[in-house]
Amino acid sequence: MNNLFDLTGKVAVITGASSGIGVQFAKALADQGADIAILARRYDKLEPLCKEIESTGRKVLAVRCDVTKEEDVKLAVKSIIDKFGKIDILMNNAGVTSIGSVDTLEETEWDRIIDTNLKGVFLMSKHVVPHMKEQKYGKIINTASVCGLIGSKAIPLHAYNASKGAVIALTKGMGTSLAQYGITVNAIAPSLFESEMTEKSLFQSDYLKSYNMLCPAGRPGMTGELNGAAIYFASDASSYTTAQILFVDGGWTSV
Ligand SMILES: NC(=O)c1ccc[n+]([C@@H]2O[C@H](COP(=O)([O-])OP(=O)(O)OC[C@H]3O[C@@H](n4cnc5c(N)ncnc54)[C@H](OP(=O)(O)O)[C@@H]3O)[C@@H](O)[C@H]2O)c1
Repeated sequence: MNNLFDLTGKVAVITGASSGIGVQFAKALADQGADIAILARRYDKLEPLCKEIESTGRKVLAVRCDVTKEEDVKLAVKSIIDKFGKIDILMNNAGVTSIGSVDTLEETEWDRIIDTNLKGVFLMSKHVVPHMKEQKYGKIINTASVCGLIGSKAIPLHAYNASKGAVIALTKGMGTSLAQYGITVNAIAPSLFESEMTEKSLFQSDYLKSYNMLCPAGRPGMTGELNGAAIYFASDASSYTTAQILFVDGGWTSV
């Protein structure tokens, strides 16, 4: 029987792969057989992951890239195409957050969040989609968030809410208009997972207690619990699934 989730021969690009969820995504797709390009600003943090994935027999390319800078993105995409000859899967995962309400947020902070979380998705897609259109095949997976759908009384995340809400809208827009080129565009919307982004804030505060109390699953997500969604959207198992947002949130957004 065909393995619907097999990624052998595919080339996957994962942004924000120097820590947290991006590392998990890179390992998960490599485990399914994909060759991998990992991107982030901190090149030194990409190197150990590069070695780890290489040791499993997959080809890997680590590229220093700031997704808010078009020149960086252009060069990164060029180096990936030069090495692998194609890009089949793009995971737009790089992201930043900051706690802040509209009445206290500095404009520069607003711009930093929107530029990374939203413009980064635009720039990466802008330079990858032409290659996908040419090969009439592509799988784009954006990392959104439950914060793109709902707010939080306890902790204002207004710039983050706006950026992830826009990523959800962009996923629907891209998914619907790119389907005719054989490109699916979907988003994974996690709730709470431990990472550099959350370990010193949400995981340390009373927020975690109230999260555990309110979340139907009674706990945050654990390492690996986003992999199934990533592999599904990256593989031909999702060939007729596009413009969808999959909330991986222990039921959080359905309470
Ligand atoms: N953890 C959660 O609970 C949670 C929940 C919902 C959604 N998310 C989303 O999941 C994604 C991954 O976050 P995480 O939780 O794994 O946090 P993380 O450990 O802080 O990882 C964020 C990644 O994004 C990269 N990044 C940030 N700014 C960048 C830029 N300008 N250019 C390129 N890369 C950049 C970082 O690498 P460098 O610093 O090396 O550039 C890092 O690899 C984000 O989009 C986040 O919003 C996380």
